[in-house]
Amino acid sequence: MIQASPAAATPRLPGLTIFVNEAVMNFPIWEIPHLGGGGLIALVAVVHVFVAHFAVGGGFWLALTEAKAYRENDPALLAYVRSYSKFFVLLTLVFGALTGVGIWFTIGLISPAATSTLIRAFVWGWAIEWVFFLVEITAAIIYYTTWDRLDRRAHNQIAWIYAGAAFVSLLVINGILTFMVTPGRWLETQNFWHGWLNPGYWPSVVLRSGSAIALVGLFTLLTGSWLPNGELRVKVLRYAACWVFPAFVVMPVGLLWYLAKLPEHARFIALGGAPVVAMFTAASMGLSGAILLFVWLGAWRTPEQFSTAFAALLLGMGFVATGTTEWVREAVRKPYILFGYMYSNSIHVGDADRVTQVGVLQTAKWAGIRDASHPDAGREVFTLLCLSCHEVDGYNPVRPLVRGWDEEYLDYQLSRLDTLKGFMPPFTGTAAERRALAQYLVSLNPEAR
Ligand code: HEC
Repeated sequence: MIQASPAAATPRLPGLTIFVNEAVMNFPIWEIPHLGGGGLIALVAVVHVFVAHFAVGGGFWLALTEAKAYRENDPALLAYVRSYSKFFVLLTLVFGALTGVGIWFTIGLISPAATSTLIRAFVWGWAIEWVFFLVEITAAIIYYTTWDRLDRRAHNQIAWIYAGAAFVSLLVINGILTFMVTPGRWLETQNFWHGWLNPGYWPSVVLRSGSAIALVGLFTLLTGSWLPNGELRVKVLRYAACWVFPAFVVMPVGLLWYLAKLPEHARFIALGGAPVVAMFTAASMGLSGAILLFVWLGAWRTPEQFSTAFAALLLGMGFVATGTTEWVREAVRKPYILFGYMYSNSIHVGDADRVTQVGVLQTAKWAGIRDASHPDAGREVFTLLCLSCHEVDGYNPVRPLVRGWDEEYLDYQLSRLDTLKGFMPPFTGTAAERRALAQYLVSLNPEAR
């Protein structure tokens, strides 16, 4: 039976009134079997980030390489640049835009509460972002279609407009991305500038710029390797290496600076507090080091022998390095989705005590079961509080994690979930809900009973 929510009678919390409604969890939960919501977001986001960084680096690459071809009076190099301008335009316009919209779809459906906070906190940021994206795609189309119609100088200036607009859109979105991990003073003031120009902002600009240059360098290695043997091929491969090298000076600086700006808890997770995360951090650094070494040995020292397969491998390593780095950024945020403000399961930090007292089944607007003694209550509590990070089987699966744990032990561990593993939020529910969840978790491994 569905009872009227007692939360409706509870006064609003001071200071959070714009964000908090009467019910605490205002949105239904979309379950994605096996992969989990986090897994799906990661998949879409990593592809988009890869393309987006690449588009930013690509703008500067087009502008500088075209200018180089004019300066050196090298028609072969110019023809090479021209042949790739179409690819860059398609990449930004089609793939970048589609995966960008894909991110909105996935985060909006999987984490509606956090997405709503991002939209409200940064309305003007998003508006500015879209203006620059429009400038970017317009410049890209003009650039591609005016190769024979504009004089050299004007045509090259269009490339600079494209590059500048793409970079500004990186600067804008970077503030919103870093905000989720290092919101800084915004937590007290909720001021746009405090949120946007947060402590992680500049280090992350450095890191992302480095990655944009590195990715376009790696891509140039691939396309350069397709050229027929000869002077142009060697020139392009060496030139590509010259994009990769500085990136590997810039990125470690950005990374160390970023780590220094992380909240204590997040830095602890990244650097060893959670072995898996530390492994990923190490993998990301190790991969980057290997890329640098291979580019130096292969493309710079022996460009004549440098093969397409090797270039593809390096680009693949670049993709994996981007993925692991984004994964780490994601992981160090736990137990929050917005650090210090909202837990991964969409519960506002400021509401946690109230949810614990009143019960999550009572305060979640869309809960299908309101009564903790209902036979399926445990499964419902799991959906509300744990599904954002655990599938039963699949992504971070809970079934093997609780194998061999009996009900008493589980109930005890649930009561101290945030100290059991520092990257889990506290259990926010009543004692009866905790008991129901413990019973449900025990039932997952019937053979162990
Ligand atoms: C913010 C994300 C997050 C949320 C929310 C979360 N967990 Fe976890 N939990 C994790 C991660 C990450 C691990 C580590 C998994 C591993 O070690 O393989 C973990 C580990 C566990 C473990 C194993 C602990 C150990 O010492 O071996 C259990 C049991 C568990 N979670 C249960 C739950 C339950 C039940 C809920 C809901 C009340 C929940 N978790 C909510 C992220 C989360």
